[in-house]
Amino acid sequence: SAQGPLSGKHVLITAGPTHEPIDPVRYIANRSSGKQGYALARAASSLGARVTLVTGPTALKAPDAVNVIHVERAAEMLEAVQRALPADIAVMAAAVADWRCAGEADQKMKKREGQETHSVPLARNPDILATIAQSGPNRPPLVIGFAAETENVIENATTKRQKKNADWIVANNVSPATGIMGGDATRIHLVTESGVEDWQPMGKDEMAEALLRRAAGTLSGLRSAA
Ligand code: C5P
Repeated sequence: SAQGPLSGKHVLITAGPTHEPIDPVRYIANRSSGKQGYALARAASSLGARVTLVTGPTALKAPDAVNVIHVERAAEMLEAVQRALPADIAVMAAAVADWRCAGEADQKMKKREGQETHSVPLARNPDILATIAQSGPNRPPLVIGFAAETENVIENATTKRQKKNADWIVANNVSPATGIMGGDATRIHLVTESGVEDWQPMGKDEMAEALLRRAAGTLSGLRSAA
C-alpha cells in the first residue's frame, strides 16, 4: 500500500445499509448509499493504511487494494467486524438497522383472503459501534461513529458519543432538503471530547481524507503519550 500518515495502520470501516430479512424474498432496508463509507475506505488506503471494509448491500464498486467483506444483516456485520479486529482506527459509517424481524419466515409470506393488515414483530439489533467501543484489550485506540439526524443534530450526537463510548462522532443532518443522504457532498459537525467543530460543506471524498488525516495525527499523539 501507499506510503502516508496511516502507513502500518489497520483501519476498519463499516458502510452501507443492512438488509434484515422478513422472509426469503423480502427485507427491511434503509436509504444509505454507502458513499461515505466507501469514500473513507479509499481515503484510508490512499493515506497508506491497510483497510478492511465491511459493507452492507450497495451499488458501489469495491475500492482497489481494500479488503472488502460483504454482509447482509446486522448480525453478520457485527461478526465480520469482530473477526477483523484488532484495528488502530474503526470508523462505523454503516446505517445499521435498529431492528430485525423477530421471527423470520422460512417460506414466502402469503396474504390471506380478506386480510387488511399485517404486522411483523421486530427484535432489537446489536449495536456494532457500542460493542466494539466497549473497553477491552481489542478496543481500537480511536473509534469513530456517525450520527445521522434530522433534528437536534449536535445534542443527539453528543449524547451518542457518551452512550456508545465512541471517541468521535461525525454528525450530519440527513433531512431530505440537505441532500446529504445519497448525495456526494456532506456537511459535518465533529464531536470530540473537547467539543464540537462545524466543518464547511465539502465532498464526501474530501471529508473522508480530512477526517482520516486528523485521525492519523491523533493516533500518533496517543502513541507518544503512552
Ligand atoms: O444510534 P444510531 O444508529 O444513530 O448510531 C449511529 C452510529 O452507530 C453509526 O456510527 C452507526 O454505524 C452505529 N451503529 C452500529 N450498530 C447499530 C446502530 C448504529 O454500529 N446497531
